[in-house]
Amino acid sequence: MRIILVILGCCLLISCSKDPVLADNKIIEITVPTGFPPIPPAQNNAFTEARIDLGKKLFFEKLLSENNSISCGSCHFQELAFSDPAQVSTGVDGRVGFRNAQPLFNLAYKTLFFRDGGVKNLRLSSLNPISNHDEMNSDIVRVIQRLKNSGKYTNDFQRAYQDTISALSILNALECFQRTLISGNSKYDQWKRGETTLSSSEELGRSLFFSSRTNCAQCHGGFNFSFEEIRANGLFETYADSGRQRITTLPEDRGKFVVPSLRNISVTGPYMHNGSITTLDEIINLYDAGGANFENKDSLILPLNLSNNEKQALIDFLKSLTDDSFLNNPAFKQ
Ligand code: HEC
Ligand code: HEC
Repeated sequence: MRIILVILGCCLLISCSKDPVLADNKIIEITVPTGFPPIPPAQNNAFTEARIDLGKKLFFEKLLSENNSISCGSCHFQELAFSDPAQVSTGVDGRVGFRNAQPLFNLAYKTLFFRDGGVKNLRLSSLNPISNHDEMNSDIVRVIQRLKNSGKYTNDFQRAYQDTISALSILNALECFQRTLISGNSKYDQWKRGETTLSSSEELGRSLFFSSRTNCAQCHGGFNFSFEEIRANGLFETYADSGRQRITTLPEDRGKFVVPSLRNISVTGPYMHNGSITTLDEIINLYDAGGANFENKDSLILPLNLSNNEKQALIDFLKSLTDDSFLNNPAFKQ
């Protein structure tokens, strides 16, 4: 009986309910960069101007946190591809977490969220920062009450979702805005479109990156420079953060993390799950040495014997993945 009810519930959520786009509310087409697949649709949450606007307001709204002290934008800075320059972010009351804040772009394509891939849905992922003790330390019921009390948002929710201020519409609006954060206009993308040339060092780095000598693209491949697999790159011999094991409890998942995209990498430091590496130099040296001696280390991580020239070339290539038009896009500014 329970199973039948669950199936029925899912059916109602997925297929039977409608997306109430208002007649005067324009559906927006988001331009997909060359070489990117079409943006997968969000369930009952088509892009409209009103939704994107509301989502952006909520992204920068401190009422989402305890003491009205921080917003999503306090840890995710646009000019840094929505990452945080701090090793670990500071939440309410100066509390510090244990992971480095991820950049936010091309999330519309992602299927695994957070470093350990513990959440599989962008809409639901906003519940984590809102309720996390070390981040916003609030909860969605309190957020609804505060937004109502502020009196600022009634019309916005009505316009965007024909709804009062509700949990679903808050999550939908945050999802809608975050889905517009598409980045695919780096120098490398422009080169692929035949609009510019790479320097000889960038070109050498590119060929090394995609070679079977380095294996970089085996993990960081595809249009978003990550196949979103969960692997261990051998950063440490022993991991303080168990990574994927936090979700599965399996010993073989210890030290494994979702492979990060390398787009905009020049501005998203410090690096790795705990922000323990500050420069691309150190990262290349780590891979060149074949990583640390760690039991779950991936078999693709091997000593590379790169020359200094080749190391610099890899760094120059990684720097060519920066998309300045994304970092400065006025549409994403507060
Ligand atoms: C106190 C700092 C802080 C605040 C505030 C914060 N975040 Fe984050 N965010 C982080 C950290 C740290 C991570 C990585 C957490 C992890 O992997 O466990 C993260 C990860 C994410 C991710 C996962 C990205 C990916 O590629 O998997 C999304 C999405 C996200 N945050 C969106 C938001 C939204 C939306 C808000 C506001 C509702 C928000 N964040 C507020 C620090 C913060
Ligand atoms: C077996 C898969 C795998 C291979 C091969 C691999 N990486 Fe990684 N890479 C990862 C994982 C997993 C992480 C995240 C580890 C963590 O957070 O602790 C990572 C992190 C990184 C980071 C830091 C990203 C960030 O945002 O913090 C860079 C840069 C990087 N890799 C570059 C490379 C380069 C260059 C190569 C080739 C020399 C390479 N990787 C080969 C899996 C891989």
